Amino acid sequence: MDNRLTTLAASINEGISKLNAYLSECNLPCPSFEPSGSQYDHFNSDAEGIAVGILDATQELHDLVRNPRDLPFDHHFTLIPVHDVITNFGVARKVPLDGDISYADLAAATGVERGALTRLLRYGIVSRIFQEKRPGFVSHSAYTKLWVEDKGTESLNAMIRDDIFPGRNYIADALEKWPGADEPHQTAFQLAEKSSQPTFFHQLAQTPGRAERFANSMSYFSRFENIAEDYPWEDLRSGTLVESGGSQGHTAFKIAEKHPALKIVVQDMPEVIAFAKTKEGRQVSFMEHDFFKEQPVKGADAYMIRWCLHAWSDKYAARILQALLPAMKEGTKVLVVEAVTPPFGSIPHTLQCRLCEYDTSMLMLGSAK
Ligand SMILES: C[S@@+](CC[C@H](N)C(=O)[O-])C[C@H]1O[C@@H](n2cnc3c(N)ncnc32)[C@H](O)[C@@H]1O
Repeated sequence: MDNRLTTLAASINEGISKLNAYLSECNLPCPSFEPSGSQYDHFNSDAEGIAVGILDATQELHDLVRNPRDLPFDHHFTLIPVHDVITNFGVARKVPLDGDISYADLAAATGVERGALTRLLRYGIVSRIFQEKRPGFVSHSAYTKLWVEDKGTESLNAMIRDDIFPGRNYIADALEKWPGADEPHQTAFQLAEKSSQPTFFHQLAQTPGRAERFANSMSYFSRFENIAEDYPWEDLRSGTLVESGGSQGHTAFKIAEKHPALKIVVQDMPEVIAFAKTKEGRQVSFMEHDFFKEQPVKGADAYMIRWCLHAWSDKYAARILQALLPAMKEGTKVLVVEAVTPPFGSIPHTLQCRLCEYDTSMLMLGSAK
């Protein structure tokens, strides 16, 4: 099958043949990641041109093969100004889903000065955020379409900007101040926020809307898995499932839809339950509960903790699990849904990069791993 993927692969092959010919003509070794491994300083302008062609084609191939949902994780820090403008001025909703709009009309519709809007969106376009298929006109890309269709996209980008990014500038300060910290208040996030709250989650709860935005961005992540089908929920029959730290129930509702006999209780902090409770329905109910305290719903058939343990250091993660023990009956299941971290370098590079990114974020936000 001939398509853009095969065209790009062929152009990479052709570029590599030319680059290899150049290397052997100049008696240069193959580039490597060793300190002495880069041959770039020896390249003449022809070789540089060949290298740029290979980089362009490999980048496009990479971007085509990647799930567009992963784009913010590849680029989020460098592209914060672009995401910021799209979010704050509602740019994505002003671009038609079919067709395109001129920069002039988009500037008028969003209220952003045309010159700045054009420059910022073009910075996004080179990273597949929107497209400019004819000069001067903006159309959606696979990624920006998500901004219109999935509320979580906007929340995720704002959360990365406001909740995760600022801690980056304080990681060294935090390591200096609290070497080897395993407390959730001894973090880069706390320094960035000048927070006196005991945890990241308590700090979010101080600002109206912030915990809700965090919960919406968690629902963006939940699209990556198919939890309602990936576990034999039917084994629990018409039993009770308690989800601790279940946010606004985005996982619970997915399970409930496919397994209507199950009763599901979603627990979280009061500030989260306050907005989550309005969604109560089906067989899903909400309940305030601090997961460090003894589990109040006794004798459930299963207790699930999804994507919570990783936000705590080991001693706190153990306490969250221990708090379930007094409530368990014979045969109760404890379901932990988590990303695991296999030995460094043992998984595909793309996944390793993302895992390192998450791991660093957990260190910054909660002295966690
Ligand atoms: C990373 S989010 C995961 C949310 C959800 N389980 C999911 O999979 O998307 C962690 C959740 O733990 C909740 N949480 C934090 N501290 C808590 C506590 N002490 N008791 C109960 N929930 C807590 C947060 O409010 C948040 O909803």
